[in-house]
This record gives sequence, C-alpha cells and structure tokens, in this order.
Amino acid sequence: MSKMTEFMGWVDARFPATKMWEDHLSKYYAPKNFNFWYYFGSLALMVLVLQIVTGIFLTMNYKPDAGLAFASVEYIMRDVNWGWLIRYMHSTGASFFFIVVYLHMFRGLMYGSYRQPRELVWIFGMLVYVALMAEAFMGYLLPWGQMSYWGAQVIISLFGAIPVVGEDLALWIRGDFVVSDATLNRFFAFHVIAVPLILLGLVVAHIIALHEVGSNNPDGVEIKKNKDENGIPKDGIPFHPYYSVKDIVGVAVFLMFFSAVIFFAPEFGGWFLEKDNFIPANPLKTPEHIVPLWYFTPFYAILRAVPDKFLGVVGMGGAIVMLFLLPWLDKGKVKSIRYRGGIYKIALTIFVVSFVSLGYLGTQPATPVLTNFARVFSVLYFAFFILMPWYTAIDKTKPVPERVTG
Ligand code: HEM
Repeated sequence: MSKMTEFMGWVDARFPATKMWEDHLSKYYAPKNFNFWYYFGSLALMVLVLQIVTGIFLTMNYKPDAGLAFASVEYIMRDVNWGWLIRYMHSTGASFFFIVVYLHMFRGLMYGSYRQPRELVWIFGMLVYVALMAEAFMGYLLPWGQMSYWGAQVIISLFGAIPVVGEDLALWIRGDFVVSDATLNRFFAFHVIAVPLILLGLVVAHIIALHEVGSNNPDGVEIKKNKDENGIPKDGIPFHPYYSVKDIVGVAVFLMFFSAVIFFAPEFGGWFLEKDNFIPANPLKTPEHIVPLWYFTPFYAILRAVPDKFLGVVGMGGAIVMLFLLPWLDKGKVKSIRYRGGIYKIALTIFVVSFVSLGYLGTQPATPVLTNFARVFSVLYFAFFILMPWYTAIDKTKPVPERVTG
C-alpha cells in the first residue's frame, strides 16, 4: 500500500474525505447532455470566491469612516501596489456576478429546473439572489461617492413608506436621521462579514439540495429513472473528470471577457461604476438623476411605475416574491422548453423583453412617456407569473423522450 493510500485510510477513518469527494465529484452522475447554459453555476461559484478574495485585499487599505472612505478608495486606486486592479476586479466582479446569476436563473426558466423535485434548489437559489442584492447594495455605499450616498438615502427612505412603523424602521436602519458615518460603519460590517457568511451558507445548501435530487438537463428528463445494473444512471457521467474539465473551458472564456472589461472599460460607460460616484458624497447636493446600478433597475422601474410610494414598494417586493413562487405556479406537463408548446415560448419571450426593458427604463429619467412604458412592462412582468397556472396547463406540449437526446 502506498504511503498516500495509507494516509487517506487514516483520514477516512476520522473524516469522510473520500466519501465527500465521491458523493459530490467522482461519483456524482450528472446528465451527459449539459449545454452552454450549464456553465453559469460553476462560474457563479468562481466569481463568489473572486469577490471574497479581492474584498479581503481591499479591506486592508479601505477606511470605513465617512471622513476617510472616499480618499482611501482613491489611495487604493493610485498608491497601493496593484490596488487599481484589485478594486476594478471587485467592482467589475459585482456586475459580472449578476450577469452570471441572471443567465443561471434564465436557464432554470428555460428548462423548468425549479420544478419538482428541485423546488428547494430554486428556493435556496432565490435566497442567494436576495442576499446578493443586499450585499451589492451595502457594498455600493462604501466608496462614499455621490451615488453611494444618495442611492442609499433613496432606498432606505423606501422603508419609510411602510405604514405606522416605516419612519422608525428607516431611522433604525440608518442609525441616524440621514445616511451618515453610523450607516457607513454598519453597512461595512454587513458587507464584509455578515452577508458573505450567509451567502456562503446558502450556496452550500443550494448545492447540497441539488446533489440530493440530481441535476436537471436541457431535455428535462429525470436520468435517475433509467439506471443500469450497478445503479448508475444510463445517461449520467461522473462530474469529475468530465464536467470539472469542461467547466475550466467556461472559466477560460469567462476570464477573457472579464479581463477585457477590467483592462479596457472598467467603468463600462457608467454601467458598472457610475460617473457621479467619482464625486465625494455631499449631503447638501442631490445629484440630478439618482439611479441604482443596472442589476437593480428592473425593480427600480417597477417601483417608479406605481404612483403611490408604498404600493410601489409592494410592487417591487412582489416582483421578487413571484420568482420564489415559480415552482408552484407552473402547471405544465413537461419541464424543458424543448417540449413545451408555443404559448410558454411566447410568454417567456415577453417576460424577458419586459425584464430587459424595465432594466433600461430604470436607468432613464422618469418622464411621463417612459413611465407609461414602465407601467406596461410591469403589467407584463406580473402577467407572466399570475397567468402561468392557466397558460402552462392549456399549452400543447410535445412528448418527452425516455432518454436524453444528444
Ligand atoms: C452565488 C450564486 C450561485 C451559485 C454559486 C450557484 C451555484 C450552482 C451550481 C454550481 C449549480 C450546478 C451547476 C449548474 O447547474 O449550472 C447550480 C444549479 C442550479 N441553480 Fe444555482 N447558484 C447560484 C445562484 C442561483 C440562483 C440565484 C438561482 C435561482 C433563483 C439558482 C438556481 C439553480 C437551479 C434551479 C439549479 C439546478 C439547475 C439544473 O439542474 O438544471 N442558482 N447552482
């Protein structure tokens, strides 16, 4: 017996190292027909690690103090060795995180990955998404620029719209009557430790839930229904080495896009770092247009589309609640879009167009004409979910094959 085998035997008698390796990698059988859309889970995992590592290095020179924060970021950008790279990796990483997660969620919509038995995979995913939004929102306050300050001011004041307790709640969140040093300190604490811990825990739960039931695939066929004499799914292949190696290709392509943005367009024309955020926070001067970053703007557009502030907040929250309910709204007989009828395909297309349009409208000044467009798209957004039990039930589906197709 080699020394290595002997050592692993010693470890395995005390800690299930080999068992975990087998359960989650070398003997985790994933469907053999994963396509392009299945890269984004592993990419999200990589971006999460990247954000944590670059965040640790940023924290070494960042000062969470309203009097020092802005200058400490400029110091990182100009004087700290490679500080500009670390900061741009982190700020670009935030936007890429959302790009990857939105594509990952869209895959779920296309292939019905949220459907039974993967409801909890989806719910944990949605909790990750909400935590990610909280993380990004609080991180954005830290550079203490104009948009950091006023963005936080606007969003926290939304809590003030809640009847009876609203104003007290907003005061409690800020720790002051306006966004101030107290707010910056607590957002820093949440951004660097509390929310990342929650995120990590949720991601682990997400993957444990997935590995319990097994991955879905572009055909929406349950591969566990067809096993060979050894109990291995006939359409499954071991995750490692097949998909571990395949995912490296995804990582390589991702890094090309990521580096191109970091090195050639780190602000991405104001989409990834807003121009107003290069001006230090000034509590006495409100910027002309207060706009959150692109990944929040679909929900921001829904908020602004509703004339009443409180109902706007309800609409914005409701837009996210709808996504949580998806596993129970879909009554279709098949999972994958490949075997759905025309109605679902049209509904999904209208949904995507509405979501992207709302995202764009949320970045624009709320003129009367644009607000009316936002209203139409908000109604279409909600219609996708509310009408789903009906149109998925009547949609004419195609027969699903027994085994996965190429
Ligand atoms: C930090 C964020 C996230 C990470 C690291 C992550 C990670 C992963 C990984 C590694 C997989 C398996 C590989 C794959 O199917 O692509 C997966 C699958 C899945 N994820 Fe996520 N995920 C994240 C966020 C989300 C969100 C926000 C949702 C939806 C609300 C979601 C829903 C799903 C679903 C439904 C599956 C199963 C897909 C299938 O088998 O077809 N995930 N996730």
